[in-house]
Amino acid sequence: MKIFRNKPLLILLAVVMAAALTGCGGGGGGEKAPSGDSAKKITVKFSHVVAETTPKGQAAIKFKEELEKSGQFEVQLFPSSQLYGDKEELEALKANNVQLIAPSVTKLVGFVPAFQLVDMPFLFASDQAAYNFYDGPKGQELMNSLEPQGMLGLGWWPNGSKHFTNSKKPLKKPEDFKGLKFRTQSGGVLDEQFKSLGAGSQTIAFGEVYQALNNKTVDGQENTFNNIDTQKYAEVQKYMTISAHGRLDYVVLTNTTFWNSLNDEQKKLFTDAMNTASQLERQMADELNAKSFETLKNSGKMEIYTLTEEDRQAFIKALQPVYDKYTEAIGKDYIEAARNSK
Ligand code: LMR
Repeated sequence: MKIFRNKPLLILLAVVMAAALTGCGGGGGGEKAPSGDSAKKITVKFSHVVAETTPKGQAAIKFKEELEKSGQFEVQLFPSSQLYGDKEELEALKANNVQLIAPSVTKLVGFVPAFQLVDMPFLFASDQAAYNFYDGPKGQELMNSLEPQGMLGLGWWPNGSKHFTNSKKPLKKPEDFKGLKFRTQSGGVLDEQFKSLGAGSQTIAFGEVYQALNNKTVDGQENTFNNIDTQKYAEVQKYMTISAHGRLDYVVLTNTTFWNSLNDEQKKLFTDAMNTASQLERQMADELNAKSFETLKNSGKMEIYTLTEEDRQAFIKALQPVYDKYTEAIGKDYIEAARNSK
């Protein structure tokens, strides 16, 4: 009872506590969640360019579910380039207009060229070798390399191997590429890859690729089974070559402005939710790519060719100039670690 005697002090205390409680909703611009909750939640905008039925799309949903369990965050998901395309999402992240993106690492070439590692032809021995590289010291080092740019890596979300598609002809040997033009995600390694095969290339944002294939701005592209399937490229690409010549993987990024606005408990909630989502993402990558391959095969829309070991060796030889030109820019240490990963 004694405590109620000092009423002004009690009121002051209540005001201070209320201010402290609402004040902790700082990150993501500190917007109030439109949930009707009286307590402010931290708004986290997560923008990405793919469909929700992809490994990345599914993992983003999982992350939202996990993080929102805490009652402290509201995660808003913007799939399929709804909010930002490839280039814009990187700028938006740096400006803290979004708090999470998960770009294909190739698209980080402008910040850290070593991310083009995934595009080095036939580098990783298997999916597991790639996962082990990402989880190992060199993978961590690579992820951390974005920090001076105000970006913080929170997890690797691998998608899988890339395969070629095109609208002109079956691609079985390196010489079959001559005179064709391919869409690339970004970066000199991919340009060099196509140049070594006698083909041209053009960087096109993911959200515009279907249209570019449809109106023949480019003849072909390279992607995972799941992206080829969910983007309906089979409608505009008659041929697919199962080549697994490179990888398409993501790194989940936040910005340091947002991250530094979180307290230790909130950072832990974030990291825990991310770890759960990352586990699901790998499982989804395996499952959804396998499922999409079956869908593409069974649709009968594409003529599918799988490289033989002899073809593969011919491609490795034809693509050697990519290593000659880019090993130094990427870093011999990264390439060796990736090659030796089991
Ligand atoms: C692409 O541009 O082809 C991919 O990086 C898209 C994605 O995010 O999977």
